[in-house]
Amino acid sequence: MKRVNGIPILGFGTYPLSSEEADRAIATALELGFRHVDTAQMYGNEAEVGRALARSGIARKELYIVTKVDPGNIGADRFLSSVERSIAHLDGPVDLLLIHWPPQDKHFDKAVELLVEAKDRGLTGAVGVSNFTIAMMQRAQARAGNALIANQVEFHPLLDQSRVKEEAEKLGMVLMAYCPLARGEAMKSKVIQEIGYKLKRPASEVALAWILQQNVVAIPMTTKRENAASNLRALDLVLSRADMDAITQVSHGNRRLISPPGWAPKWDS
Ligand SMILES: NC(=O)c1ccc[n+]([C@@H]2O[C@H](COP(=O)([O-])OP(=O)(O)OC[C@H]3O[C@@H](n4cnc5c(N)ncnc54)[C@H](OP(=O)(O)O)[C@@H]3O)[C@@H](O)[C@H]2O)c1
Repeated sequence: MKRVNGIPILGFGTYPLSSEEADRAIATALELGFRHVDTAQMYGNEAEVGRALARSGIARKELYIVTKVDPGNIGADRFLSSVERSIAHLDGPVDLLLIHWPPQDKHFDKAVELLVEAKDRGLTGAVGVSNFTIAMMQRAQARAGNALIANQVEFHPLLDQSRVKEEAEKLGMVLMAYCPLARGEAMKSKVIQEIGYKLKRPASEVALAWILQQNVVAIPMTTKRENAASNLRALDLVLSRADMDAITQVSHGNRRLISPPGWAPKWDS
């Protein structure tokens, strides 16, 4: 599978999977060919993810595992011990460790330093952030000595993230699209449905292809085998310039789904 900044371009999201449903969904995803799995301390399912990875029998070096430091663990007294707990659940160092939500100003620089320290200590192969604005990416990347490879943000055909993408790329970072299907809303777009009808492909594959074709990583979640298989098929779908542009027009509606008070920053647009 194609990689951007070393990250397999299509991954499997795991929120809000837990217990047997998590075991089953992750096992199915791995069986079908997903190798990149996205979890977080906040999801409470790192142990299930670790168990599914171990049961799969797939060599660890073939997998790409992402986890995220919870806002409650961002303080200097908890940061690294929380990462050690995560990797105990996940049965070894992760491939990419993210700060899940931007730290408060007073913790910001120290949190970025601790993130880089986690990498230096071998707890993770690479580091990045999530839900950072342009100004936050700039500040964090400077503090990290350019070690950050990614910013995981809400990204789908109903939301214009072009400015954040452009700035991330200038900083050497890729965007990772969470809610790539806008939790099902993307498939209700008439424009996307019509392109799917024309190409004889489901609207969900069209929405994912629009993301992947921009060199943005996508991490759709599904509980269903047939949907996981379909999401993988989005890798083979090539959209014309005209179809890409038509979907980009849809994104100017700017429908953001995720903005939890207390954690969410003042977004760029
Ligand atoms: N960094 C962050 O702050 C953050 C925030 C939110 C999410 N995330 C990560 O991003 C991942 C993905 O986001 P998300 O789960 O919120 O949204 P999403 O992937 O856009 O949408 C998931 C929904 O789409 C449905 N779906 C998936 N594939 C489908 C297909 N081929 N056809 C029809 N329906 C399909 C699923 O239903 P079925 O189960 O019925 O298929 C599920 O209800 C999460 O799991 C999590 O790992 C990160």
